[in-house]
Amino acid sequence: MSSFATTIENGIAIVTFDLPGEPVNKLNGAVKRELESLLARLRDDSATRAVVLISGKPDTFIAGADIEEFTAIANQTEAERLSFEGQETVSRLETSQKPIVAAINGACLGGGLEVALACHYRIATDHPKTVLGLPEVQLGLIPGAGGCQRLPRLIGASAALDMILSGKTERASKALRLGLVDEVVPPTILRQVAAAAADRLAREGLPKRQQKGGLSGMMLDRTAPGRRMVYRAARKQVIKKTGGHYPAPLAALGAVEVGLEQGIAAGLAEEHRAFGELAVGDVSRKLVQIFFATTALKKDDGVPAGTAVPRQIRRLGVVGSGFMGAGIAGTAVLNVEVDTRLKDSDLTRIGKGLKAATGLLKERLDRRRITRPQYERLSGLLSGSADYRGFSRADLVIEAVFEELDVKRQVLAELEAEIRPDAIFATNTSTIPIHHIASQARHPERVLGMHFFSPVERMPLLEVIPTGATSPDTIVTAVRFGRRMGKTVIVVADRPGFWVNRILSPYLNEAGHLLQEGVNIELIDRVMTEFGFPVGPVALLDEVGLDVAQKAGSVMHEAFGDRMKPAAALPRMLGATRLGRKNGRGFYSYKAAHKAGVDKSVYPLLGVHPTENVDKDLVERRLVYSMLNEAALACADGVVRSPRDADIGAIFGIGFPAFRGGPLRMIDDVGPARVVETLYQLQEQFGERFRPAPALLEMARSGGRYYPA
Ligand code: NAI
Repeated sequence: MSSFATTIENGIAIVTFDLPGEPVNKLNGAVKRELESLLARLRDDSATRAVVLISGKPDTFIAGADIEEFTAIANQTEAERLSFEGQETVSRLETSQKPIVAAINGACLGGGLEVALACHYRIATDHPKTVLGLPEVQLGLIPGAGGCQRLPRLIGASAALDMILSGKTERASKALRLGLVDEVVPPTILRQVAAAAADRLAREGLPKRQQKGGLSGMMLDRTAPGRRMVYRAARKQVIKKTGGHYPAPLAALGAVEVGLEQGIAAGLAEEHRAFGELAVGDVSRKLVQIFFATTALKKDDGVPAGTAVPRQIRRLGVVGSGFMGAGIAGTAVLNVEVDTRLKDSDLTRIGKGLKAATGLLKERLDRRRITRPQYERLSGLLSGSADYRGFSRADLVIEAVFEELDVKRQVLAELEAEIRPDAIFATNTSTIPIHHIASQARHPERVLGMHFFSPVERMPLLEVIPTGATSPDTIVTAVRFGRRMGKTVIVVADRPGFWVNRILSPYLNEAGHLLQEGVNIELIDRVMTEFGFPVGPVALLDEVGLDVAQKAGSVMHEAFGDRMKPAAALPRMLGATRLGRKNGRGFYSYKAAHKAGVDKSVYPLLGVHPTENVDKDLVERRLVYSMLNEAALACADGVVRSPRDADIGAIFGIGFPAFRGGPLRMIDDVGPARVVETLYQLQEQFGERFRPAPALLEMARSGGRYYPA
């Protein structure tokens, strides 16, 4: 079946790309071949003066290369060839004697933007779904079809590197300011405007473009010494951000630099060489696996397909307008555009909550992600009161009150008297078993956990936690709503700590043991950031709040016994009213809410003399293997439904290094037998808490793994 349909109107060929049987347009081998022969036909067709390339899909121009195709690559040579062929196809667009206009509505990403860059003129629509970008580095790759060459030539080295090295996408208005597109129009007239532009180009020739960026941009981008400064700054920033763990951004920088300094042919050669090397590398493989896992989760409702019916959520209630409640309300309004009612015990607290929730909208407005009228409309969806007024119309209520069983039970009882009998009650508890909260409910089938992470608007994960009594309809409704809030959702079992806090607990506790042994705080944190976590465990304790961590720690201790026996460090800190960032006094000191250095007065408080004279590898092993072992234990307990959910939960919930693929992937990579060996060594040195999980012993014995090899 054909992917392109062509109509010729007044000498302008309108080529509509509509990949059969797929929701979005992707570039694969067949599409590239068809495009090439189409271009050849149009070249020889005397009735055609110019071409418009437009998409037949509602929300995408071209979403990028077909990633499935990458996974089939067997070796580096094949990967290089794939990139080289992409470059060739795209160059045919650029060298076409007949001008080609890209008419862009919806996502124009990766290979899609590389196609657009090779066209002679670009028009984008102002539709919110229209975004342009080269996100390849997020898959551990670089733009490999000329993107590293054409983008800097079009918008300058600094702006291009800003986009390529981060993989971020830009809206049409910003793309226009950057010079990435030539015009922005409403979707309804895209086709007409594009046809008119094609006609103009055919008659008057290609437009002269001036690079944007003003005088300073010109000095930086147009002179060799200026560009050297740009490369140097970019390299420094990349190394700082990736800790040297992700090779793609530096490779992209290399391809841009070679292209600008040695000419486009050399640049293209470097581009496909580097692409080939990265595509078969371990980091890219891991990032692609994560991409597929999250894509699969987007289609996974948490219950077997066809067994449940989601209900529509038209109105949301949120009880508790504190830190989490406000975040949940603001995020729901922003992403789901749902009428949201907040309830707290008094109006002052409601006022604070509404202000915080509106603050999230304001931030989007300031960053020009939403317009003023959108902001006004969304703010209008938020309301609040000190009683349950309005809750009788809610379809879903999320509870985020204090972390106390009695309070939560009482709120549920009060709500059941107010809300419709078919409304769903979700609790955001982080430590209390959901079935305890639900034990006296009149409708336990409509009670479950929705565990958001802080800060809600930024953390990408949501754990949905059904009890044994929760109905499938309730589960699927919560999963779908969480997804609409922009979250990656995993459904986990109602066991203490659920998944994320379960594997986090022994890790944070091990940090407590290290602290109590006098290991230098910066060293502990540095070891783990070098391992690839975004923050170290001690800094994380400060963020979570030492009171919260202590409470969670004792719940876990009670549930799992000696393995989770809390280290002495936290009670000592709390004894000195050190709560972490929230009161400006933790392991670190805080000046005007900014983290300053380690607070050295902590050491005498813990009764230790700080030392750096430790085996760093051992520090790393203690922290990492406590988490790996717990992951194996929890997995065997049936806390997660699959290794996929486990690894995604760890990566998105606590920042487990993505390039390592998650704790279970890491166990597979290291090999269960070696993991067991290390755990035995740790057990001998540090005690029973490192006793290897039976599941690991079994895997070591039988040669099992979590994922198929
Ligand atoms: P918070 O103390 O900031 O907010 C709690 C709010 O609930 C307060 O405004 C309080 O006035 C209100 N409240 C208490 N009893 C109430 C009642 N009976 N009716 C109405 N409102 C009532 O606490 P935060 O941090 O927002 O935590 C809320 C829940 O979210 C807790 O269950 C916590 O375990 C959970 N959670 C917290 C996370 C965090 O990082 N802070 C992360 C994930 C979950």
